[in-house]
Amino acid sequence: MAKVTVHRKAHFNAAHRLYNADWSDARNATVFGKCANPHYHGHNYELIVAVKGDINPVTGFVMDMKILKDLIAHEIEDKFDHKNLNEEVFEFKELNPTAENIVVVIWNILRAKIDTKLQLSITLYETPRNFVTYSGN
Ligand code: NI
Repeated sequence: MAKVTVHRKAHFNAAHRLYNADWSDARNATVFGKCANPHYHGHNYELIVAVKGDINPVTGFVMDMKILKDLIAHEIEDKFDHKNLNEEVFEFKELNPTAENIVVVIWNILRAKIDTKLQLSITLYETPRNFVTYSGN
């Protein structure tokens, strides 16, 4: 059976601040640079959700893309778009909202909603040149 990966792109704008509460402002500024700005700043995040699996012989789909689109819209875009990640998204109350941590949070949310027979991989662009990937291990 041919395994195919289907991809869906999505987008959200969000604000964050990177800092370690145990550190001084100076040390935070040294480690996190502009991202430590106490007044927050925004990014245009680009998300690519990749789902890999067998082609269903009945539908010809790996996963119905409309279902995937709606899942991303409801579970990720509604939760993250135009939000202050530190202040408004509970997963980041105690967790630094770096791209690395955001991609793991997104993966965990979507993994719980997608058939376990399908492999899930997430790519998150924080800037056009900086991006992270996570596949659950
Ligand atoms: Ni930043």
